[in-house]
Amino acid sequence: MNDIFIRACRGEKVEYTPVWLMRQAGRYLSEYREVRSKVDFLTLCKTPELAAKVTLQPVDILGVDAAILFSDILICVEAMGMHLEFSEKKGPVLGEPVRTKAGVDRLIIPDTEDSMPFVLDTIKILRRELEQRVPLIGFSGAPFTLATYIIEGGSSKNFVFTKKMMYQNPGLFGALMEKITSTVIEYLSAQIKAGAQAVQFFDSWAGILSTYDYENIIFPYVKTAIKALKKFDVPIFYFVNDCSGILHIAKKCGADVMGIDWRVDMEKATKMIGKKMSVQGNLDPLVLFGPKEQIEERVQDILNKGESARGHIFNLGHGILPETPVENAIAMVEAVHRLSRA
Ligand code: CP3
Repeated sequence: MNDIFIRACRGEKVEYTPVWLMRQAGRYLSEYREVRSKVDFLTLCKTPELAAKVTLQPVDILGVDAAILFSDILICVEAMGMHLEFSEKKGPVLGEPVRTKAGVDRLIIPDTEDSMPFVLDTIKILRRELEQRVPLIGFSGAPFTLATYIIEGGSSKNFVFTKKMMYQNPGLFGALMEKITSTVIEYLSAQIKAGAQAVQFFDSWAGILSTYDYENIIFPYVKTAIKALKKFDVPIFYFVNDCSGILHIAKKCGADVMGIDWRVDMEKATKMIGKKMSVQGNLDPLVLFGPKEQIEERVQDILNKGESARGHIFNLGHGILPETPVENAIAMVEAVHRLSRA
């Protein structure tokens, strides 16, 4: 088994820098589009054989050092009781956004085995198929990021309803965050028990908050969720998109690895994060649209700057885009392996 990814998470010595890509299973791969042409996205997430199949595609095609469960952060929101659809144009659409006490009261804290058995079945298939290959990462949205979808009813630009609830009705917002936090703790515990060998929290929208609000309103829930998962012996990742304004707080989350976006300098971030955590990141996903020599140059820069980290897991600073040329993603993974061995 290639366990270099797990060892880098723990800050142990590694022969080269492990790499995987956020959203590595997806539309930039023709093999994924082929599977997707026959089923809609939610069916794909809920059919364990197919979800396992697309999870393995980037492992075979890119040669990455970890697999990530194919699913979506909104699967557990559906299980909380909201109607979920993915529209080609608008992305995720959640029926009846939650903005009142009645709405929050209606949400349930789902039992994963009862309401999302397909996630656990996918993990079990993957552990069998991945035996002797690479570790499997499970994941969840972080509480605030899930709250934005629940309150806005989908993606958003200014997060008006979310911030309105935060500022106008902090009690209600807190009750919602508590329910979501209990949900993600249960959900990730179930993923780990089913076989996930690491877990990542995606806090895709935490970067829209002021430092004050992040620290005082959101961060306590992040810490609670991470602390609850500490009893399992698996590395915990906390990825924050647009993290530069809050990294000095986020680094106290208690996770094993801090995932950072590309807007923050790797050297500065690594210094700030210190030696208690490993660092994941931080190539701009759009660099993959440029020429290979340039990709290599940027990879080398990040590797150099990440050298003083306790451990470095190479990744993009956010998910890979559907338009990305596959050969460039392959070249990036190859460059990380080759240049970090040197
Ligand atoms: O990383 C992986 O390969 C695992 C799969 C994965 C998906 N979504 C598959 C997906 C993961 C880890 C996610 C996480 C996710 N989902 C996040 C957090 C990461 C981030 O990007 O910030 C968020 C915010 C979502 C919500 C979501 N899902 C949106 C906003 C969209 C629409 C935008 C888009 O890219 O189409 C999705 C759809 C989605 N999730 C797709 C995939 C492969 C595309 C669906 C399709 O095949 O049409």
